[in-house]
Amino acid sequence: MNGAIIKKVRARQIFDSRGRPTIEATVKLADGSLGRAAVPAGASTGSFEAFERRDNVEDLFEGFGVLGAVENVNTEIASELSEKDALNQREIDALLCELDGTERLERLGANAVLGVSMAVARAAANFLKMPLYRWIAEVSDTPEISMPLPMVNILSGGLHAGKGMDVQDFLFIPARSRSMQEAVRQIARVRAIADKLAEEKKLSTLLADEGGLSPGFETTREALKLMVEIFERAGLKPSKDALIAIDVAAATLQTGAHEYFLSRANRKVSSLEMIGLMQNWAAEFPVASIEDALGEEDWTHWKILNEKLGRQIQIVGDDLFATNPNRLQKGINERAATAVLIKLNQNGTLTGTLDVIKMARKNGLATIVSARSGETEDDFIADLAVGTNAGQIKIGSFRGSERLSKYNQLLRIEEETGAPFAGTKSPAGRF
Ligand code: PGA
Ligand code: ZN
Repeated sequence: MNGAIIKKVRARQIFDSRGRPTIEATVKLADGSLGRAAVPAGASTGSFEAFERRDNVEDLFEGFGVLGAVENVNTEIASELSEKDALNQREIDALLCELDGTERLERLGANAVLGVSMAVARAAANFLKMPLYRWIAEVSDTPEISMPLPMVNILSGGLHAGKGMDVQDFLFIPARSRSMQEAVRQIARVRAIADKLAEEKKLSTLLADEGGLSPGFETTREALKLMVEIFERAGLKPSKDALIAIDVAAATLQTGAHEYFLSRANRKVSSLEMIGLMQNWAAEFPVASIEDALGEEDWTHWKILNEKLGRQIQIVGDDLFATNPNRLQKGINERAATAVLIKLNQNGTLTGTLDVIKMARKNGLATIVSARSGETEDDFIADLAVGTNAGQIKIGSFRGSERLSKYNQLLRIEEETGAPFAGTKSPAGRF
């Protein structure tokens, strides 16, 4: 008897860090091995992401319920996967996509499909008595694993903080750390100093969705200045030890095909003016990475942005690529970016996500495994980033157990494996 045969698949509705419903799936194998996984959810979700199925019953969890998706797991998906081999992740994922039958997994819900895909991987790893990152390395043919360089949310605006600032996220990159241990020490310090400075300056110390602060500045320069001040007060040298990453989440600012509105600054800007802003920020501040500086279909200007800034800083596509192989291929052909954000639930399956990482690597793009603004205590992405040698990870701030569960898992993996820290020698190669 093959002990890795799937005997039971169940899902339930649990709750994420915003108190909204999400899916948790459990898979049980013939030998008793269990796998459990929970699905995160975004706020600034791209229009090209795999489809997140919600009940849309207004007086039930404000419409965010996932009982329909849970039902799909417990009926159709459970019966489809019954007696299938959990060690064959690729086949399982293909079966799930076929069963759904739509491009964006609209019928069953990408949240239903992904929860099961992740739970199968965990069950398989448990069956093999193998840590999840090792199993992911096997499934993805990754010869060498590494600890990812984190980019850490410190200040938030946009949809993560009641639109208190136009730009969504300002992040700290501990660029000169030599290990996850050291990175985490710096991260903890920078985040604590952010609180201290906010208090001194009488700015809000309330937490945004990813555990960063939301000072509500009118201009981006004020936020960037505060980032530099935080680094200095933490004893880190800006440009050397500490770099800034920005996630503009520009799709949320877009008012026309090539037009954006900065509501806090009360300024309408064209795509070219947006690019000009990025150039100014990068010239004046230690900015090393800019994500979603433009909208999801503003391809011509992505190309211009990348021509102008791509050699100097990392140009990241999140909503632009939506962890979708077709969109990434287009971005590669058009030279739209130098890095891709990797979100499991934008893609819908584990192996689908692994393929996007592989495609990026083959074409010289850096990969950043990312959490969502609505997270759970599931630490899957820590193992994903290590097991695929992704090079970089974006978890959110250093607050809230839905974030810390991932940082803590990275510390455990580093202790267990002694895997090299991607840091300056990361596949990103540019820090
Ligand atoms: P989201 O934010 O999870 O709300 O999409 C994260 C990001 O934009 O990178
Ligand atoms: Zn983003």
